[in-house]
Amino acid sequence: MKKDIEEIIRNLGKISKSIGDKNVLVTGGAGFLGSWICEVLVEQGAKVTCLDNLASGLESNISSMRDKGNFKFIEHDITQPIFFDVPIDVVMHLASRASPFEFEKYPIQILKANTLGIWVALGIAKEHGARFLYTSTSEIYGDANEIPTTEEYRGNVNPIGPRSCYDEAKRCGESYVIAYKNQHGLDTRIARIFNTYGPRMRAEGVYGRVIPRFVEQALGNNPITIFGEGTQTRSFCYVTDQVEGLLKLAFSEGAKGEVVNIGSTKEITILSLAKLINELTNSSSKMEFHPLPKDDPQRRNPDISKAKKLLGWGPKVELEVGLMRTIERF
Ligand SMILES: NC(=O)c1ccc[n+]([C@@H]2O[C@H](COP(=O)([O-])OP(=O)(O)OC[C@H]3O[C@@H](n4cnc5c(N)ncnc54)[C@H](O)[C@@H]3O)[C@@H](O)[C@H]2O)c1
Repeated sequence: MKKDIEEIIRNLGKISKSIGDKNVLVTGGAGFLGSWICEVLVEQGAKVTCLDNLASGLESNISSMRDKGNFKFIEHDITQPIFFDVPIDVVMHLASRASPFEFEKYPIQILKANTLGIWVALGIAKEHGARFLYTSTSEIYGDANEIPTTEEYRGNVNPIGPRSCYDEAKRCGESYVIAYKNQHGLDTRIARIFNTYGPRMRAEGVYGRVIPRFVEQALGNNPITIFGEGTQTRSFCYVTDQVEGLLKLAFSEGAKGEVVNIGSTKEITILSLAKLINELTNSSSKMEFHPLPKDDPQRRNPDISKAKKLLGWGPKVELEVGLMRTIERF
């Protein structure tokens, strides 16, 4: 992991120098992406406040930072008001459960984190005159019929389907961000994150997203559970690339008010992904096919030309390499 953090810092280039003097609030900072972000910020000398209610995050994700003078953890639910008497220059709002199984089990918490929660987080940014970054998602495009999907695409979303607690909540979250930008002149940035994976992603129970779930099943020589025939596609971005993109969007001077897709453009079917993971783990797991959940998007692939032009960002870690780094951690 240390090497991965060093790689992110190297790839941030001149942006990394503008991080050190900042006070940054990271909501959802004990989660998968949030803890990587906190770690890079702490390493660069920023004063980091990590706020998390540990709904899906883990204390172990942030334990290595707990004794650092420039890191503070606050256990708090962002849907409840909170005030800070220390300066805050940048708010990064990541707090939200994000696994499809959690959509089923905790739909109201997810809606609240991206509506009431973002309202609280935007209020903090407004009070402190801070910059605001929101981690939205490719899910706001729904089952897109424009592939690769650009930021202009408006979405094909079912407002009353099983995923609506997540995709409609994120759409509402984006609307909040734009309202605060327009009405209060806040410096805002919206990242539309496409599937990201890597160490610290949870595999178990409702937290398990596809890659950690497949890796754990393959390592145990247990059946790999595929929904549908596995012909649906996703484009998987390794965490170091994603975190670099998010930090470039948050800390670049020229990105005020922008909405940017951040993800890999290499599309793969879920069946090919399962086979690849089987191969990389030398597993004897069999494929087990389950009914496709309702409204599962058929294809997902971003157009990232805006991120390339605006941030000089593009993914660098090949899928096989990122998978091996992830498998090692398991
Ligand atoms: N990882 C991905 O592929 C991906 C893709 C698209 C969007 N995103 C977005 O990125 C963000 C981080 O996702 P992640 O993959 O790290 O998920 P994660 O579940 O690992 O992290 C989310 C964190 O938010 C915390 N949280 C949830 N509700 C909260 C609340 N009400 N108050 C305070 N903390 C709360 C959780 O405890 C957890 O630590 C989320 O907003 C997610 O929607 C992630």
